Amino acid sequence: MTGAESVFGTDTHKGIWMAVEEANRKGGIRKKHIKIISYDTEGKAEKAISAVTKLINHDHVHVILGEVASSLSLAAAPVAQSYQVPMISPASTHPKITQLGNYIFRSCFIEPFQGSVMAKFAINHLNLKKAAILRDQESEYSHALANFFSDDFKKMGGQILIDLNYSSRAGNYRAQLLKIKSTKADIIFIPGYYREVEKIIPLAKEIGIRAVLLGGDGWDGLHLNPQDQSPLLPAYFSHHFSADDKNAAVQGFVSRFEEQYGHRPNGLSALGYDAASIALDAIQRSSDLSPKNIREAIASTRNFQGVTGVISINSDRNAIKPAVVLKVEPSGTFSYVASINP
Ligand code: PHE
Repeated sequence: MTGAESVFGTDTHKGIWMAVEEANRKGGIRKKHIKIISYDTEGKAEKAISAVTKLINHDHVHVILGEVASSLSLAAAPVAQSYQVPMISPASTHPKITQLGNYIFRSCFIEPFQGSVMAKFAINHLNLKKAAILRDQESEYSHALANFFSDDFKKMGGQILIDLNYSSRAGNYRAQLLKIKSTKADIIFIPGYYREVEKIIPLAKEIGIRAVLLGGDGWDGLHLNPQDQSPLLPAYFSHHFSADDKNAAVQGFVSRFEEQYGHRPNGLSALGYDAASIALDAIQRSSDLSPKNIREAIASTRNFQGVTGVISINSDRNAIKPAVVLKVEPSGTFSYVASINP
C-alpha cells in the first residue's frame, strides 16, 4: 500500500474490503464475521515473503489474497505453498505463479492471453504492423508480457523494429525513446507500471514521437499531469474491467462503490472485489474450514458471476476471461474501446 506502486495496494484493498463488508452485513459466512488482516509489502519481495509468513504463522488466516505485482506473487507463493494455505492473487498475470503449487490460484487471466490481446488489437483494430517494445528490465511482469506480445505480433505478420529495456528504479527513458523515434515505429508497446508510464507518455510527446502507445493492465492507476494531456498521443491498454460495462452486476458494483468511496472503481478494485468474493464463496461451500477443503472449494469454482466477468478456475488454477481494451482520454479517464475473447 506504500512504495512505488502504492495504488495497486490501496485500490485493490478497497474492493476486498467492500466484498467482505457486504458479506458481514448479511450475517457473515458460515454465521461467522469475516476479518481482514492486511500487511503492507511496500512493493518489496522480501516484505511480501515476511507478510505471508506472518499471516500464516501469527494470524492463522484461512485464505491469502494477493499480491498484485507479479514479482511479489512469485516471491510470496512458495511460502503459501510450503505451509499449504490457499492463496488467490487478484491481479498477477505472470504465467509461472500458479505453477508454483496446487495451493496457488488467481482470479484473473494470464500474460499469454494479455499479450495476444494487444497484438490482435494493434493488427486487427489499428491496422498497424511496425512496433517498438520498451520494457522494464527489473520486472518479471514486464518481460513476460513483452515476450508474449512480441511472439504473437510476429506470428500475425507484425514486425518488431527494436526492443529496449529501461530501469524502473533509475527512471530514465529519454535515450531509449530517442532510439525508438529513429526507427519510425508506428506502435510502442510499453508493458510497464503506471508510475513509469506517467513519465514515458509526456516524454514521448515532448521528443516528437508520433506513434500509438500500447500497454497492459499495469497502466491502471495512471494519472497524467493536466498540462501533459493535450494533445495526447493515442494510448490504449488491455485490462480486466471497464466501469462502463452495461452488465447489471457491474453497474450495481459501480454504484455501491461510488457510494462507499466517492469515486468510480478502477480495475484493481474490481479485481480485489472478485478475488475476495471467490474466497468467501469457497469458504461457504467448503465441507469444513481446513485449508485442504477450502483449497478444493476454490479449485471447483465454476461460472462465478464476478464484476470482472464470469469466473471459472481451470485445472491450472487460472481464470479464463475476456479482456477489455481501454483508451486513455485527454482528461485522464479511461474509456472502453473493445472486448477481446480468449
Ligand atoms: N498484472 C500485473 C502484474 O502481474 C498487476 C496489475 C493488475 C496491475 C491489474 C494493475 C492492474 O504485475
